[in-house]
Amino acid sequence: MKVGYLQFHPERLAVDKNIKRVIQFLESVEAELVVLPELFATGYLFSSKRELLSVAEKFPDGETIKAILDIAKEKDMAIAGGFPEISNNKIFNSQFLVSPAGEFLYRKVHLFNGEKYLFAPGDTGFVSVELKGIKIGLMVCFDWLFPEAARTLALKGAQVIAHSANLVMPYCQKAMYARAVENRVFTITSNRIGSESVGGKKLTFTGGSIIYSPTGKILAEGSTDSEEITIVEIDPTEALDKNITGDNNIFDDRRTRLYFR
Ligand code: ACM
Repeated sequence: MKVGYLQFHPERLAVDKNIKRVIQFLESVEAELVVLPELFATGYLFSSKRELLSVAEKFPDGETIKAILDIAKEKDMAIAGGFPEISNNKIFNSQFLVSPAGEFLYRKVHLFNGEKYLFAPGDTGFVSVELKGIKIGLMVCFDWLFPEAARTLALKGAQVIAHSANLVMPYCQKAMYARAVENRVFTITSNRIGSESVGGKKLTFTGGSIIYSPTGKILAEGSTDSEEITIVEIDPTEALDKNITGDNNIFDDRRTRLYFR
C-alpha cells in the first residue's frame, strides 16, 4: 500500500488558490492514501469568529471536500485533510477522509490554545474507517498529546493513523514514535510550514511531517521549511500483530481495572 503526506504552505484565507495547489501536488503522485495538514485550505489563525465563518464549510457539500473528492475519484485515492466545518451554528475543527467509497468525518476532540475561543470541541468520537480492507484512523494535531486518542483508534482496529497537523511546538514529531510503538500502528503526520501573523499574534509552523512504522521506524521525514509530497510503501498487515514479545500482547496485557479514568 502506498501512503504519504503533503507538507504544504497555505496562504491564509486564499481557499481557491490553496485547493488548486494541493490538487496539483496530488496529481503528481500515485498512492492509496495521502494525508493533508489541518485547515490546509484556509490557514490556521483567524482574527475573529466572523472571519472563520467566512471560510467554514458544510460537510460533505463544501467546495473543499467536493474538489478533493473529485481528485480522489479520478486517482482512486483516499485523502484525509482538515477544514473548518459549520454545522448547526457551531464551527468544528474537522477532518475529512474521502475516497471513491464515500466521505467520512472526524471533529477534533482536543482543541489547542486559542482554538477554544473559535471552535466547538468535537463530538464525533474517534473515527476509524475501513477502506479496501484496511482500517484508517483519523486524528487532528493536538490530539497527539492525549495517548487516549491514538489508543482508542487502535482499539477500534485502525492500522494506519492519518494525522492532519498545524504544529507549532517541537514535541509532536518525536512523540508520534510512542503513539506508533505503543499501539503498533503506522502513523502519518502531515504538518504545514510557514508563518502566520494576525492581530499581533505570530505563529511559525514546524514542518517535519513524519511517517512511523508499528516498530517505530521512520519511513519518511519532511524538512522544516519546504513544501513536499512524499509517498512510501507500507504493509498495513504489520499493524495487525499486537505481540511485542512472545509473552506480551499490547492489548491483552492491559490491566484496565487498575487504570484511572
Ligand atoms: C494544534 O493543535 N494545531 C497545535
